[in-house]
Amino acid sequence: MIIDTHAHYDDEAFEKDRKELLEGMKEKGVGCIVNVGASLRGCRDTILLTEEYDFIYGAIGVHPSDTDDLNEESFGWLSENCQKEKIVAIGEIGLDYHYPEPSHEQQKYWFERQLFLAQKTKLPVVIHSREAAKDTLDLMKQFKGKLNGGVIHCFSYGVEMAKEYVDMGYYIGIGGVVTFKNGKKLKEVVEYLPMDRIVLETDCPYLAPEPNRGKRNSSLNLPYVVKAIAELKGLTEEEVVCQTCENAKKLYSLGDMD
Ligand code: NI
Repeated sequence: MIIDTHAHYDDEAFEKDRKELLEGMKEKGVGCIVNVGASLRGCRDTILLTEEYDFIYGAIGVHPSDTDDLNEESFGWLSENCQKEKIVAIGEIGLDYHYPEPSHEQQKYWFERQLFLAQKTKLPVVIHSREAAKDTLDLMKQFKGKLNGGVIHCFSYGVEMAKEYVDMGYYIGIGGVVTFKNGKKLKEVVEYLPMDRIVLETDCPYLAPEPNRGKRNSSLNLPYVVKAIAELKGLTEEEVVCQTCENAKKLYSLGDMD
C-alpha cells in the first residue's frame, strides 16, 4: 500500500473534483494520506478532511511563510487541536528564506514555539526548510533527543545535510523532484539514504513527477516516484512500496491501520 506522507488536498486546486479524486484513491493503491496544514485555514480544512475520510490523517502547524497567521490566540487553537485523535504530527513548520518576508526573526520565533509544542505533545514534526540549511539544523540540534522524531519534507539539500538528519533519526521525504532531469542532487541523496529512512510524499498540488511535471499533482502520481527510487536503489517497485509504507507508519505511529 502506498502512503502519501505529505499532501495538501485542502488546496483550491482540488476545489472541483476533490471528492471524486479522494474516493478513488484506495482502489488505485493509495491506502493512506497525511494531509498537511500550512496556514491556519489549511489546518482547519485538514481537520475537516480527517473527519470526512477514514484513510486521511492530518498534520497541523503553520508554515514559515504564513507565520503572520500566528498570535497567542491562534497558537492556543493549534495547541488544543493538535490533540485530536487523527492529528498525527505538527507541521509543516520550519524556515523559508527564499522570499524576504516574513523576517527571519519572526520565522525562527514561531518555528521554535511550534517545536516546543511538538515536544510537549510528543507528536513528530514535519519540517519545511528552504534556503535556510544552517539555521534549521541549528534549531533541530537544540531539540536533539527531545522530539518524537519527524520528517524533513521535500528535501532540497545535499548528502552531507541528509546525513545530519539521518544521524538524528529523522525520515527524509522524497517526491516528484527525484524524477526531474535536473534533480541530480536529490538522486544522490536517495542513493545515499538508508531505505529505512525514506518516505514517499507528493506535496500536491505542487511538484508533479515526470512525465506529468508542471501539471497538478496528486497521490496517484506516486508510482513514478516509486519507480525512480527503485532504479536508484536497485530494488523492485514492490520492495520500495513496502518499505516506505512501513517507514510512514512508524513516522506517524499509524500502527493500528491495516
Ligand atoms: Ni507542503
